[in-house]
Amino acid sequence: MLTRSAMLATAALLVLGSGAAAQTPVRIVVNADLGETTISKYIYGQFGEDLGRNIYDGFWTRAGTGQWHLRDDVIEALRRIQVPVLRWPGGCFADYYHWRDGIGPREQRPKMVNTVWGGVTEDNSFGTHEYLELIQRLGADAFIVGNVGSGAVEEMSKWWEYLHAPTGSPLGDERAANGHPEPFNVRFWGVGNESWGCGGAMTPQAYADNYRRYAEYLRGAKPFRIASGPNTDDYAWTETMMREAGSRIDGLDFHYYTVVGSWAHKGSATQFGEGEWFGAMQKALRMDTLIARHSTIMDQYDPGKRVWLIVGEWGMWHDPEPGSTPGFLYQQNTLRDAVVAGLHLNIFNSHADRVRMANIAQTVNVLQSVILTKGDSMVRTPTYWVFDLYKVHQDATLLPLNVRSDAYTYGGQSVPAVSASASKDKDGRIHITLVNLDPNRGRAVQVDVRGQRVSSVSGRVLTAAAMNADNTFEQPNAVQPADFTGARLSGGNLTVDLPSKSVVMVELR
Ligand code: AHR
Repeated sequence: MLTRSAMLATAALLVLGSGAAAQTPVRIVVNADLGETTISKYIYGQFGEDLGRNIYDGFWTRAGTGQWHLRDDVIEALRRIQVPVLRWPGGCFADYYHWRDGIGPREQRPKMVNTVWGGVTEDNSFGTHEYLELIQRLGADAFIVGNVGSGAVEEMSKWWEYLHAPTGSPLGDERAANGHPEPFNVRFWGVGNESWGCGGAMTPQAYADNYRRYAEYLRGAKPFRIASGPNTDDYAWTETMMREAGSRIDGLDFHYYTVVGSWAHKGSATQFGEGEWFGAMQKALRMDTLIARHSTIMDQYDPGKRVWLIVGEWGMWHDPEPGSTPGFLYQQNTLRDAVVAGLHLNIFNSHADRVRMANIAQTVNVLQSVILTKGDSMVRTPTYWVFDLYKVHQDATLLPLNVRSDAYTYGGQSVPAVSASASKDKDGRIHITLVNLDPNRGRAVQVDVRGQRVSSVSGRVLTAAAMNADNTFEQPNAVQPADFTGARLSGGNLTVDLPSKSVVMVELR
């Protein structure tokens, strides 16, 4: 069995002199017969908060008649990347949302002001039934976050009951009258969001006590109970939650964003130089350390790894696009975001024994979106295409691998140039995803595949000439995957010519 550190896809930084680095190939060893851990498909999850134009004007749009409906093109695009789960209604909005406002005849629902995001008035036309219709059409699983911060235990308990109670009971009959006699299939249940901040500003001890109380009244159907987890490196939060409530928690929802500048001045999504590119890679790589440290704490209380570490919010957070409503968090998405996404997903795979779900923030028109919309037009972002390349890992067996990469150096600081992850699917196909963080130089990668004979190789590559290449409404297909011709097989040895600033998926049979 390889050690944990040997399995890390982004490990083994070998800093060489620049002359030697130019000559030295990156080496990867894949142990194709030693896989033990399944990469949960939920690692490829999404997050659709009622924020900006994510739900209203994203998933949910008005026809010419003024009638709201789910947007077919968005759903079709998301089905292609096999979205396994969609977290909703927040985020911070979850601890402000009262579910009863979003059921019953739409024209009778109360309007509300979204004071959390942008101060806009919404008509509550997208509520529980609409979300669950979206889930069903996506072929995904639901993940609802209940209101702890401004809601009562009774309110959350009744929402759960409304979803699951049989007809013949008061809430089951009310659900049936609203058009759904069968109980809904909702299992993933968040007990508040960021309860250390916008979800109630609680201390870990106060939240642990509240968590136990709220989770206790989720009765009838069995929930998969997800506790609000730590912010970034708040290890005391993880420690307290696992100690005080660990036996009642099924998932701990940890959040970390890649912010290149400061929270006040994050930096532009599209106008940046190599310094901001490098900074993004450095900040993104921090995810690996954070997961390792939170996992170590969880291991003390849960050595059997029953409790999932869920990375419920992750991704690049830039300054909003000039001219957009600041509270809507609308940002463009470039090749830099795509490389950061590939890096994160490789990291999550490498921790698949503990990380069983992750939800990129967010799906449509908010932060590191996979889809942008404007009127009837829709754009698949570079990040979307990374999810398309990586869907082969969903529920496949993680293959232990060792990466020895030279460094990508900028301004006297270094990160490993190459990140990789490998898995074997149920048909025995091996998939290796590779990311070259270096925007200036390609890498020759030698891959030694051990433990399985392979005879053919194919692949797809996502790259572009410019670091800030993006897909716009005028040029929606500027950045998209192409067939990859840079992989050659000779015996069990694979050579991959990895272009600079690229994400590659290689399939071996
Ligand atoms: O994703 C945007 C916000 O970031 C979420 O609402 C909140 O949970 C986090 O702070």
